[in-house]
Amino acid sequence: MLKDWVYLKEQDCYFMERVPYCLCPEVPEQQCMNIYVPAVFLTGEGKLTEKVHENGFTASTVPVIFENGLAGYMEAEPFDLEDGRSGAKDFLQAGFVYVSCGCRGRSSRDARGKGCGKSPLSLVDLKAGIRFLKHYAGVLPGDMKKIISVGISAGGAMSTLLGSTGNSENYEKELQRAGAFMEETDDIFGAQCYCPIIDLDHADLAYEWMFRGKTHYTGMPFVGFGEGDLTPFAAALSDRLADAYVEYFNGLGLRHPVSGEPVQIGKEHEGSGYTCLMEKLEESAAKYLKKLERGEELSGPKIPATEAGDYIRGCYEAMNFDFPSESLVSVSGIDKSGWLSWDGTKARIAGLDQMQETYHRRLKLCPSFDDLNLIQAENQELGTPDCDKMHFNPLIAPLMEQLQSEFPRETSQYLEDYQKISDDKELAQRRYLINPMNYIGTEEKADLAPHYRIRVGSRDADTSLMITLTLALKLMNTGRTDVDYEIVWDEPHGRADYPGEVAAWVQKICANVE
Ligand code: DHB
Repeated sequence: MLKDWVYLKEQDCYFMERVPYCLCPEVPEQQCMNIYVPAVFLTGEGKLTEKVHENGFTASTVPVIFENGLAGYMEAEPFDLEDGRSGAKDFLQAGFVYVSCGCRGRSSRDARGKGCGKSPLSLVDLKAGIRFLKHYAGVLPGDMKKIISVGISAGGAMSTLLGSTGNSENYEKELQRAGAFMEETDDIFGAQCYCPIIDLDHADLAYEWMFRGKTHYTGMPFVGFGEGDLTPFAAALSDRLADAYVEYFNGLGLRHPVSGEPVQIGKEHEGSGYTCLMEKLEESAAKYLKKLERGEELSGPKIPATEAGDYIRGCYEAMNFDFPSESLVSVSGIDKSGWLSWDGTKARIAGLDQMQETYHRRLKLCPSFDDLNLIQAENQELGTPDCDKMHFNPLIAPLMEQLQSEFPRETSQYLEDYQKISDDKELAQRRYLINPMNYIGTEEKADLAPHYRIRVGSRDADTSLMITLTLALKLMNTGRTDVDYEIVWDEPHGRADYPGEVAAWVQKICANVE
């Protein structure tokens, strides 16, 4: 079953590519994985060595990084080492086994052209990948009790789910259908979640609370809309969604991890939940500014050596990645002096509203996920093979109904389609299965990863920053997993991190585990 290892001189590693991980793949080029192993752990004949890497691990104790490439909920083939989206080189450098696992996604089609990758099949495939690795424990290098999942955005959602749905019966039927190793388990040791797009049940609401009153959006050209202003109808809907979020959030019963006090928000940007978020943002800015002053490597776009004062005033040129041209372009720094201050120890941020004027701008339309015209990734992820793109948020219709007399034209255009899904039980199930919040601290029977690391950029506007804060608090409140959660300054949506930190985290959590 396993193919032969190939040696790669540049990385001093062995690899196997396109290894199928389940017996009945519908899209073989997606349902396969690439495996890379530091050369020290294998003999030329493909046997495990007894050698100890300088990180202290052997072929049987070394952690296994399990990265998925799901972006925008789109199906993903496994990354090869040269793929810029992969974190492989850093993990191999640290001496870990690195697996890039492909999976089906929202527009996958089988050989007959039928859709076959919508919720929850990306997650099912990744679970099948985990089961495959466990099945070959002892044959493949790596300690399969130390699998660490890594993913970004929709992939970050999958990572969060792999960590929270371990061995849940809810996915068994699909695992069976894919031909996964049913005798194996699929729980994991750690989940690295970069800017996870989770809680699609409430993400529309969280977005409007976060960007309350902000009607200008910067747009998502690759989704199909550029910069613009919310229509009066969308702005009115935004207010209703924002109000509805308050009730949802306050009903979660979250507690502050240190004080044990309830974490709550008000309608405006106020309350202890808001304070919590602002504290995380201030810690994030302080870490950055301290590193800036010490000349250490920074997160975010590359900037030349700059005094903290000049940085805050925006007196610098940053190299930003420009998506259309796929190149680095020089852009002037943003003046943050109206809302960010620094005394050499603590950073202070005046408020989210001020931060959102120029630095952290609204990106999406309203609704931000369950789009009026079904153009968002989630509309397709939560559709069916027969109905490719669907509305999915049943909380929207009752709020839109309240706008009927003020906006008769828009409501007659959109309302009915949102109403149609209010009793769709199958849709509710598809939503349920990819929402980790249904599994964390609930009655669901599932194994929770003992370690979580959550990172999100301070400029990330793909989902509300409240989503990751809520995830972190929910996980912490279980008392059953250790949670390392930070907002990473100046990072946009993506692999928001400081160089070397994720590998250090893996090393730390795995070092003394038998
Ligand atoms: C991703 C980004 C989004 O804005 C979204 O709604 C879903 C997924 C992504 O980058 O994977």
